[in-house]
Amino acid sequence: MTTDKIATASGSCTIGGDLPVVRLGYGTMQLTGEGVWGPPRDHDEAVRVLRRAVELGITFFDTADSYGPVVAEELLKEALHPYADDVVIATKAGLTRQGPGIWTPLGNPAYLRQQCELSLRRLGVERIDLFQLHRIDPAVRLEDQVGELAKLRDEGKVRHLGLSEVCVQQLQDAQAVTPIATVQNLFNLANRDAEELLDHCEKNDIGFIPWFPLATGELSQEDGPLGVVAKQHGATPSQLALAWLLRRSPVMLPIPGTSSVDHLESNTAAAGIELTDAEFAALSDAV
Ligand SMILES: NC(=O)c1ccc[n+]([C@@H]2O[C@H](COP(=O)([O-])OP(=O)(O)OC[C@H]3O[C@@H](n4cnc5c(N)ncnc54)[C@H](OP(=O)(O)O)[C@@H]3O)[C@@H](O)[C@H]2O)c1
Repeated sequence: MTTDKIATASGSCTIGGDLPVVRLGYGTMQLTGEGVWGPPRDHDEAVRVLRRAVELGITFFDTADSYGPVVAEELLKEALHPYADDVVIATKAGLTRQGPGIWTPLGNPAYLRQQCELSLRRLGVERIDLFQLHRIDPAVRLEDQVGELAKLRDEGKVRHLGLSEVCVQQLQDAQAVTPIATVQNLFNLANRDAEELLDHCEKNDIGFIPWFPLATGELSQEDGPLGVVAKQHGATPSQLALAWLLRRSPVMLPIPGTSSVDHLESNTAAAGIELTDAEFAALSDAV
């Protein structure tokens, strides 16, 4: 069993100009029950996954008030508090839950403020490193939603702000209100719809956090689209999917999710895979 901080081979990226993170991170959504609702199937394994992630050198953890709800944030605190100095936790607010698999945006400023206060308490921190608006609520003016987050930052409750599932225009509209450090959109080898947004982020030094980096497991399958190429490389399909993301842009911060220590260890080894230009191009064409 390696004790090395193998994730650090993915390099680092600085969020908002002053918050360094190891680029290969970890997403906590898989640590909850079916439909991202309720506790995990195996609580002790969930705690082991989080602690092992730190041992492997992962410093960037993505979570949300709505994962469980509250389950993922509570697990982070249970497993990692008091946090190591280099651990960065990014949480989100703006999606409410009415049951397994059901997500409803709510961008009322008073609600966003309440959720920030509750996340501070649940995570056991005085300031949230990165607070992301989980979805823009179409029923509330964008200036009011982002404006409330900016107030929370000005009050010292939040360090940096991020958005999730936005287009370039929405990002620019939000930036007209306040600085935005990151965006988080669906992006992986099999779904590159957010390519224009990614290029915009790279040009403007905004962190890009691709969610579903493994296409929620589809790209991990031995008999999936990466299976044959992976065998030729002596790697796993998940490792290639993650190495491709890391190679795609220096502002890319993948947050693969898993509920198993074995998968975590295997996925984290992707940090050490350097794809040549030809390999990168071949993978881009393979899926
Ligand atoms: N902003 C948003 O709206 C949004 C939406 C969705 C997700 N997210 C964030 O993005 C993170 C990543 O998304 P995700 O976790 O849903 O999807 P993902 O990382 O694309 O894939 C996770 C799935 O792949 C499986 N998997 C992982 N490693 C594997 C391996 N080595 N071999 C075989 N299967 C493997 C996992 O199962 P096992 O548990 O069995 O390993 C799990 O089912 C989330 O945790 C969350 O933090 C954000």
